[in-house]
Amino acid sequence: MTRLVAATGFRRLSVAKNLSGFSTRRITRGFATPAASRDALDALFKPLDTFERRHVGPDASEVNKMLTKLGYQTMAEFVEDAVPQKIRIASTTVDDASIRPYSESELLKRARDLAKVNKPARSYIGMGYWNAVVPPVILRNVMENPAWYTQYTPYQPEIAQGRLESLVNFQTMVISLTGMHIANASLLDEATAAAEAMVMSFASASQKKKTFLVDSGVSPQTISVLKTRALGFGIDLKVGDISAALEKDTSTVCGALVQYPDVNGTIRDFGALTKQLHDAGAIVSVATDLLALTLLTPPGEWGADIVLGNSARFGVPSGYGGPHAAFFAVTEKLKRKMPGRLIGRSKDVEGNPAYRLALQTREQHIRREKATSNICTSQALLANMAAMYAVYHGPQGLRDIASKVHGYTGILGNAVQQLGYEVANSEAFFDTLTIKAKDAEKVHAAATSAGINFRRIDATSVGVTLDESVSPADLVDIINVFAAAADAAPLSRESLSVPTAPGIPETLKRESGILHHPVFNTHHSETEMLRYIHHLQGKDLSLVHAMIPLGSCTMKLNSTSSMIPVTMPEYGNVHPFAPLEQVDGYATILKELEKDLNIITGFHSCSLQPNSGAAGEYAGLSVIRAYHKSRGDENRDICLIPVSAHGTNPASAVMAGFKVVAIKSLPDGSLDLVDLKEKAEKHSKNLAACMITYPSTFGVFEESVTHACKIVHDNGGQVYIDGANLNAQVGLTNPATCGGDVCHLNLHKTFAIPHGGGGPGMGPICVAEHLAPFLPTHPIIPTGGSKAIDAVAAAPYGSASILLISWAYIKMLGGSGLSHSSFVALLNANYIASRLKGHYTLKYKNSKGRVAHELLIDMAEFDKAGLKVTDFAKRLQDYGFHPPTCSWPIPTAMLIEPTESETLEELDRFCEAMIQIRAEAEEVITGKQPKDNNVLKNAPHPISVIAVSEEEWKRPYSRQKAVYPLQWLHQRKFWPTTSRIDDAYGDLNLNCECPTVEELAEHAV
Ligand SMILES: Cc1ncc(COP(=O)(O)O)c(C=O)c1O
Repeated sequence: MTRLVAATGFRRLSVAKNLSGFSTRRITRGFATPAASRDALDALFKPLDTFERRHVGPDASEVNKMLTKLGYQTMAEFVEDAVPQKIRIASTTVDDASIRPYSESELLKRARDLAKVNKPARSYIGMGYWNAVVPPVILRNVMENPAWYTQYTPYQPEIAQGRLESLVNFQTMVISLTGMHIANASLLDEATAAAEAMVMSFASASQKKKTFLVDSGVSPQTISVLKTRALGFGIDLKVGDISAALEKDTSTVCGALVQYPDVNGTIRDFGALTKQLHDAGAIVSVATDLLALTLLTPPGEWGADIVLGNSARFGVPSGYGGPHAAFFAVTEKLKRKMPGRLIGRSKDVEGNPAYRLALQTREQHIRREKATSNICTSQALLANMAAMYAVYHGPQGLRDIASKVHGYTGILGNAVQQLGYEVANSEAFFDTLTIKAKDAEKVHAAATSAGINFRRIDATSVGVTLDESVSPADLVDIINVFAAAADAAPLSRESLSVPTAPGIPETLKRESGILHHPVFNTHHSETEMLRYIHHLQGKDLSLVHAMIPLGSCTMKLNSTSSMIPVTMPEYGNVHPFAPLEQVDGYATILKELEKDLNIITGFHSCSLQPNSGAAGEYAGLSVIRAYHKSRGDENRDICLIPVSAHGTNPASAVMAGFKVVAIKSLPDGSLDLVDLKEKAEKHSKNLAACMITYPSTFGVFEESVTHACKIVHDNGGQVYIDGANLNAQVGLTNPATCGGDVCHLNLHKTFAIPHGGGGPGMGPICVAEHLAPFLPTHPIIPTGGSKAIDAVAAAPYGSASILLISWAYIKMLGGSGLSHSSFVALLNANYIASRLKGHYTLKYKNSKGRVAHELLIDMAEFDKAGLKVTDFAKRLQDYGFHPPTCSWPIPTAMLIEPTESETLEELDRFCEAMIQIRAEAEEVITGKQPKDNNVLKNAPHPISVIAVSEEEWKRPYSRQKAVYPLQWLHQRKFWPTTSRIDDAYGDLNLNCECPTVEELAEHAV
């Protein structure tokens, strides 16, 4: 009754405004509004906080203006010209009846209601996941801060020095704690990092030695991921006692993986084993825990070649599986084979130190099927959080946390032994005990009654892992679960005692220091930490400043409403292996997301496990491989990939065990069907798959896509659609209609998960019905189909907590909002194409002169004036814009993708900047400005370059022209912090650690 009265009041105030706004939208969009599925009351009292008008930048009048500029009356007419008719789907496929829209407040209420359905429990399950304590200053100022989470991968280092410095802090922290020579700036998770180590070992033995040994103390989810990955390379994985395996035959062993401390908590001295493996010419990889390494001898000191793990407990919530930053460190010898992004120090043209991405030539972008790995998106934001955690706590703070965790574990061990239990690893542990019980089930039952989860090892062993979050009261509760299960009286806090025997063997106690660099010994007060975070943030251009029109990256709005659930404790603090009955809220959301993604893609089933687009490609191709195998077609190992494909495609195909055959493109950018047919027929006996990106990376919807798919099917292959460009498709077409069998979705593109400066991302796959049985499972929480492949990620639902973002995004837009977003994404791109006409050369367009959701402009014509695409990109930084994707998929081109979230005003600002730069280029072409000393070649212009006296300013243009070439820059100037950075110098003089005190003094970095 009360609710009704309140709602009525609300209606009287709002209905008129609401209806008029609504009808404007209907007319201008030129589409009938689909029947809403709300109830009668909702139909009368429409919410005012609808999301679509906040998410889509151009309003009705702006849409009209753009349509008019392009010569159309309605959106429908425009879309007809942009998207081929034969792949269009019915407008009812993705509408408000199939995906019902929620207003922002409705969605948040639903998220809160579902959060309450998750049953809160304290998890001490361990297995690589802990309850992290996120320092509030990092939670609010990094994790919840759009200036950090909306950044892009730092391909433009002059406007990314802040996150680059922070990622170098991450690398330095990993190097210091592991005792290794070099570390990268994160991988996806511990299990896939272990798989990368295995493949590196295999590659280092020139793929000749095929055996990889895995100690049985390695976490089961890691072993499962290794199994999947081993298949593709034909690696013979042997899990068990490594020493025993070495006694038999060492000639085929390329490497081995041990865990330190192991999954059961034991700390073993692997020094002798390492020597034995080295004598056999094998590479030794170690999965480990950074906090434990503050007290343990680091693997680098006992000879490890590769050290990896998960940095989650450094202040990153467990999030039902992620996202977290895996770390990966290697010896000097292996540095050029290391997968993932590596940040190095270089210098700018003024000679000042500056950071940039190093050794990129080993990445899939360039090396394609010969790449070190397929990793592209990684976990930059989470690496930044972990690094900030180390900066905040410093070496002593980290050791104090480790000592407390270890001390509590010792007290727990003592107490349970007093209660009559045996502790299997009482002599060597850090934070985990394996406690022997006559009836483990009885312990778990007592734990459940106390709202506590332990690890289920077997019928007589219980695993308990402690962490920083454990308070004295928590410790007593844990102990008293064991008391209850032993039918003993509860122990009091006062009765607990510290063990006399050390838990860490004398020989494995760390003697070397940690984190001596100034950055880890400076910012320990909250004031200083806050200022450091904001000091770095101020150097980086993100979506809070301007559009980031990166082609193929879909840098759209990451709305605050969709981000809020991620840090709700009911979602953030859930262990990925928590019993299913505790996670009903998550389960509902994940099921709804799967269902909506199936509606959007037109497919039958979905796996939410892969942690990035490239991981999705690998998962999808592995599913295809399993499908062929199930039909006795083990020989099918050829994968056709167009030359225009993203580098991850060929790299993933190789990882899944396929041989890559390239397919040509025609001069108009479309797939060469003659070449495709010829190659498909030539390989028809062995054809496994063809990977197609749709719309293609050239920015056009190809009419021929269904025909291409038919050719592949006719020759026995399956079609993999790379869904990176799905933003152009939603509600208009879908991968199933195009003829595909499987696709991945970059949720960090189309479905609004922020890019986080290079990750996190999520790359779920959707598949046709015949492939559904093969979707990946998980060793702890089964997922996938009846004939599932092994896991492709450490957690059953990958980085589950960020799936909430895409769920919220889809739910708030609803079907018609999703479709409208795609229409406007196409419109914005075509508007830019039309404004840049006459100034730049549009490389590809369809027969109606239209592009898809992005456009490729070719700068080759400026070569004669000595101007390259990079010069245009760097000059855009002076105008306050993040440059578009450069030199890909064509070396001389820029790929521009504005997304639907940018308003007409912002598009115009960008176009004005581009047009003005074209005029500046003209001055070089006509000789008004010298070829080697002009405003483009010298771009960007940081303050340090400008802040010189009139006499010192030696350039043939004014300082005004350098930094304020357009009037609006006086109000909205973003300053790059360095001048152009020397890439070659950085690769030749590789240095991937923070500066020392002496270097700081020398350069005032
Ligand atoms: C066309 C295409 N495919 C695949 C990928 C790989 O996705 P991710 O970076 O999430 O691994 C990208 C990433 O930019 C892409 O643009």
